Amino acid sequence: MDPLAALAEFEQAALAAIAAATNAPALEQVRIEFLGKKQGRLKDLQSLLGKATPEQRPVLGKRFNDVKEAVTAALEAKLTSVAKPAVAATAIDLTLPGTPIELGRLHPITQTVREFQGIMARFGFEVVDGPELEDEWHNFDGLNIPLEHPARDPLDNFYLAAACTATGEPMLLRSQTSMLLRSQTSNVQIRVMEQRKPAPVRIISVGRVYRPDDIDATHHVMFHQLEGLMIGPDVTMASLKSVLRMFAAAYLGGDSEVRFRPSFFPFTEPSVEVDVRWKDRWLELGGAGMVDPNVLTAVGYDPEQVTGFAFGLGIARFCMLRHGIDDIRLFYQNDVRFLRQF
Ligand code: DAH
Repeated sequence: MDPLAALAEFEQAALAAIAAATNAPALEQVRIEFLGKKQGRLKDLQSLLGKATPEQRPVLGKRFNDVKEAVTAALEAKLTSVAKPAVAATAIDLTLPGTPIELGRLHPITQTVREFQGIMARFGFEVVDGPELEDEWHNFDGLNIPLEHPARDPLDNFYLAAACTATGEPMLLRSQTSMLLRSQTSNVQIRVMEQRKPAPVRIISVGRVYRPDDIDATHHVMFHQLEGLMIGPDVTMASLKSVLRMFAAAYLGGDSEVRFRPSFFPFTEPSVEVDVRWKDRWLELGGAGMVDPNVLTAVGYDPEQVTGFAFGLGIARFCMLRHGIDDIRLFYQNDVRFLRQF
């Protein structure tokens, strides 16, 4: 057989066998059959070279090497392609840098709220919640705030417009009195006392309240209050001051001094403004006093049997003091550059 034709046939057969093989063991069989050093078909062809005439030899030799190289290269290429496991494309590359986990954090006001709840819980006060959408009874009447009181002025509160049905009938909400966004957390006092016997009662409630104020560095239309209420057979003004002093000391640190200034609230008698001494300054914390007998009567308690104190403090002020924040609006702008700092 013509050696060149034999080489061409070999090449064709080898490449076809390589193409047909689909895995490494099959390719190894092909390799042994065609390129095997001992009995491979290329080995047989090599003996043909020996028989070639001196003129044929250089051409034949070159052709032999080219075929050998081409078949070897095809075999190697196929081997790497079948060696790649099918999962390679979807496998996780463990050498790649990971996606950083973005850690969230609590809003500074929420942090303050949680801290206050923790402190008061340690003093034995149960943490309760109250509705932000409230009726006039719980926000005003029950708290001894009469109808003509300026605090009930529609311009000083967010009353809800009465909804109407399709036929124009007023659709009365819940208790058939007008509803408003609560203007103080004191509504929780009434809600708790209505539901419980004066057994004693010892609760705090922290939450949002709403008033249509002009917004500036110290005022917002929505802000947070901490309400406290303690009812029992012998709760006094001294108990009130002790609790507030311990609270201030727990939050601000040191042996905080608390002072009372006479004041007036419809739901307490006597009423006081509470100040705390902080870095040689007196800071206003909020209002407090002994629960007015009218309030106790309104919720069905006997003012001859029990007394109690109540207090209502602003939250933002504490948080601003602690962190040196000088503008309340920063809390509500949701700017992560600000919020990330806490
Ligand atoms: N509710 C009052 C306010 O928003 C604060 C307050 C004063 C609450 C005296 C009380 C209290 O419980 O006893 O201004």
